[in-house]
Amino acid sequence: MKTEEELKISQLLMKYEFAQKMIETEIDVLLQEFTYQHGYNPVEHSKVRMKSEKSIQEKLARKGYEYTASNILRHIDDVVGVRIVCSFLTDVYDLVSILSKSSNLIIKERKDYIAHPKKTGYSSYHLLVLVPIYLQDGVEYMDCEIQIRTIAMDFWASLDHKISYKFKEIIPKEVEEKLYEYSLMIQQLDEKMLELNDIVNKYKKENQKEIPS
Ligand code: GTP
Ligand code: MG
Repeated sequence: MKTEEELKISQLLMKYEFAQKMIETEIDVLLQEFTYQHGYNPVEHSKVRMKSEKSIQEKLARKGYEYTASNILRHIDDVVGVRIVCSFLTDVYDLVSILSKSSNLIIKERKDYIAHPKKTGYSSYHLLVLVPIYLQDGVEYMDCEIQIRTIAMDFWASLDHKISYKFKEIIPKEVEEKLYEYSLMIQQLDEKMLELNDIVNKYKKENQKEIPS
């Protein structure tokens, strides 16, 4: 028999599952519309995931809270998470603008770790949004974290995660410093790729002019 609290938690997790479906569909629609209007898809790949119960429990424990439904609601904003990986820096901000205009999402918070990287060197744009879910008793709004980054930022974050995970809490200073140094290289590479893309686009435009209509 489940306790009252366990029932509350499983009901809450069901709501996050609904939210996951809603955000997945919303992003698909927004991207298809953008691709139709602009003739290109800014997304390399994207993924929507829901945290496992175990990792929700671990995160609450890490923050010093008991595993209860109200603590999940209050202290975890990434039970549902979306990661969108783009080619270029400009694509990241285009996506932020598309998502911000959506009438189906409420933007709760913006964290621009591209303009202001974390001290580890981590860089990405985070949007904390509220996603509506439509229940028999009415509408409810669930938290969802959207991370938007370039392929280069994603490369750094994946390896940083792998490396840092190996050391659990205490990462050697030398490793920390190298990771930070490489994050600066990643930042430069993103800027260079953007410049290259501008050059490519200029060539494309010139070629189009030469084709008689
Ligand atoms: P949480 O309590 O986990 O939400 O931390 P926070 O609120 O201080 O950070 P934020 O919500 O802005 O970012 C959390 C998420 O960003 C993490 O779950 C990671 O996916 C990612 N992230 C943040 N910092 C780093 C980092 O230094 N390295 C990597 N690889 N990912 C990071
Ligand atoms: Mg957070």
